[in-house]
Amino acid sequence: MASAFENKILEMRDKHEISLDLLTYILKESTEDERKFLCEKAQEVSQKIFGKSVYLRGLIEFTNYCKNDCYYCGIRCSNKNASRYRLSEEEILSCCEKGAELGFKTFVLQGGEDPYYNDDRICAIVRAIKEAHPDCAVTLSIGEKSYESYQRYFEAGADRYLLRHETANEEHYAMLHPKNLSGAHRKQCLRDLKKIGYQVGCGIMLGTPGQTVAHIYEDIQFMQELQPHMIGIGPFIAHKDTPFKDQPSGSAEETILLLAILRLLFPKVLLPATTALGTADAFGREKGILAGANVIMPNLSPSNVRDKYLLYDGKICTGEEAAECNACLRARMKKIGYTVVDSRGDHPDFA
Ligand code: 5AD
Ligand code: FES
Repeated sequence: MASAFENKILEMRDKHEISLDLLTYILKESTEDERKFLCEKAQEVSQKIFGKSVYLRGLIEFTNYCKNDCYYCGIRCSNKNASRYRLSEEEILSCCEKGAELGFKTFVLQGGEDPYYNDDRICAIVRAIKEAHPDCAVTLSIGEKSYESYQRYFEAGADRYLLRHETANEEHYAMLHPKNLSGAHRKQCLRDLKKIGYQVGCGIMLGTPGQTVAHIYEDIQFMQELQPHMIGIGPFIAHKDTPFKDQPSGSAEETILLLAILRLLFPKVLLPATTALGTADAFGREKGILAGANVIMPNLSPSNVRDKYLLYDGKICTGEEAAECNACLRARMKKIGYTVVDSRGDHPDFA
């Protein structure tokens, strides 16, 4: 006989709905056995759709200049201790080359909001990557831009766009960001990106200062409206040169439970087990995969800049080369019975 809790999980899986009460119970009160049941169900759903495959995304952190001043982020413009760098088009292409040799079929260009990379430069980079690697997907993660800019990048060949909404609640958004940034504009960007035709990723940090379970519930409601193709979640981890330096970090455990919930609510979504999760818990990425995640994003950035793209303290893999992380992650996945596959890993609706 299934317990009342188990029945609720099965109902969530079948109806793709969750109540605030159930969310609160899972994150804050559930027992070890109940958590195990939830993660098993999430893994079942993930395996039904993706098998025991894990998709790779090669992350290229091409600039840590940023015009924004988000209170949580280590590369915020007012952090004078950050040592700033930009990669040239050539350096970016050489990262892709290395990634292609390692079997990567997706390159994620991530950076701060750096005005140096105007639309012409971004489009030129996207075109050059697509020309050299026509079988690969290009994902951009470069922040809030105009509809026209997003349209231009898309026409240049960009396939996907990651823009975490950070929190769907406007008051909470205002606690995390300076006044010139608004949650409403960020959400509008995501709607624009979707309309243009990108595979779109939104997402949040878990455990940011002031975050409540009701906020996470609002995040889920926003995701249900947006229907993103990807959802990036990871624990908040304090950075020593930010206003949040003394704030406690988010919990890896809660992040893993939320991954499992998201897999049940959004069966086909691409769900990374993030580097932040791997930083908060030495086996966070493995636990994430075992809770329904199906993507990992190893770092392809050149080793001489890796320790400069520090959004939070203690980030893993800043001393490793691309090939080392690649081998490490393939071995780690194999150990838990999963296989890293060399495919683009599009959302099932795009494949
Ligand atoms: N801890 C964890 N994640 C962070 N990010 C930014 N700063 C931090 C931090 N201190 C996340 C944000 C951003 C993504 C690129 O990294 O969610 O969207
Ligand atoms: Fe970088 Fe394991 S993934 S060393």
